[in-house]
Amino acid sequence: LLIQLNYDKVSEWTAGYIAEKINQHKGSRPFVLGLPTGSSPLGTYKALIDLYKEGKVSFKNVVTFNMDEYIGIPEDHPESYHSFMWNNFFNHVDIEKDNVNILNGNAPDVEEECQQYEEKINQYGGIDLFMGGIGPDGHIAFNEPGSSLQSRTRVKTLTQDTIIANSRFFDNDTNKVPKTALTVGVATVLDAREVLIIVNGHNKARALHYAIEQGVNHMWTISALQMHPKGIIVCDEAACDEL
Ligand code: GLP
Repeated sequence: LLIQLNYDKVSEWTAGYIAEKINQHKGSRPFVLGLPTGSSPLGTYKALIDLYKEGKVSFKNVVTFNMDEYIGIPEDHPESYHSFMWNNFFNHVDIEKDNVNILNGNAPDVEEECQQYEEKINQYGGIDLFMGGIGPDGHIAFNEPGSSLQSRTRVKTLTQDTIIANSRFFDNDTNKVPKTALTVGVATVLDAREVLIIVNGHNKARALHYAIEQGVNHMWTISALQMHPKGIIVCDEAACDEL
């Protein structure tokens, strides 16, 4: 657990860490980066774009896999995770379009889509660094409370809590929030060589307590990080209110 003074420091540190890992990466295989959406990583994306503009990092040899995507909204919907990633990050750096992987929530066969996603991750030799955020209920990606800690990429029904939390992006109207999503599983995240989770703000304090001060528990899926040999949580002081 790494505690930073505030959100800006969390973002600065995280971006610096990711850039360093990309720069240190050697060999013919590209660096494979797992990425989240949400407000938590926004500052990190901004800081990474700055580092790119300053010539301190390049994404030419980086392949990305996003954590999740809604089912039932078009890819070009402003709140789709495809739109989020292109608008907030990919459009501003030198990543190759073909190196971006995001689950297709409109795939005709979603089971097959999920299986192929897992296979593609393996074809690239696994994820080097998975960055993530958490929901106020401690979910990672869309692995809602009760998800198996052995879970793989699959369809998940969102809990009412998550629908309410995410309605802020859908005109505060819970009816407009998709009810299901495709998400990597807890085990998919834990397979990464390194996992780096950003937790900021008082509304994540309870989740952070369950993540690190209680036992591994499938009702707080982020707690599975305790089993990872290289799991890092970077948080701000407000998120520590219940530690
Ligand atoms: C969604 C995403 C998660 C994210 C969570 C928290 O549920 N599927 O990956 O961690 O929101 O979002 P925020 O960072 O906006 O609090």
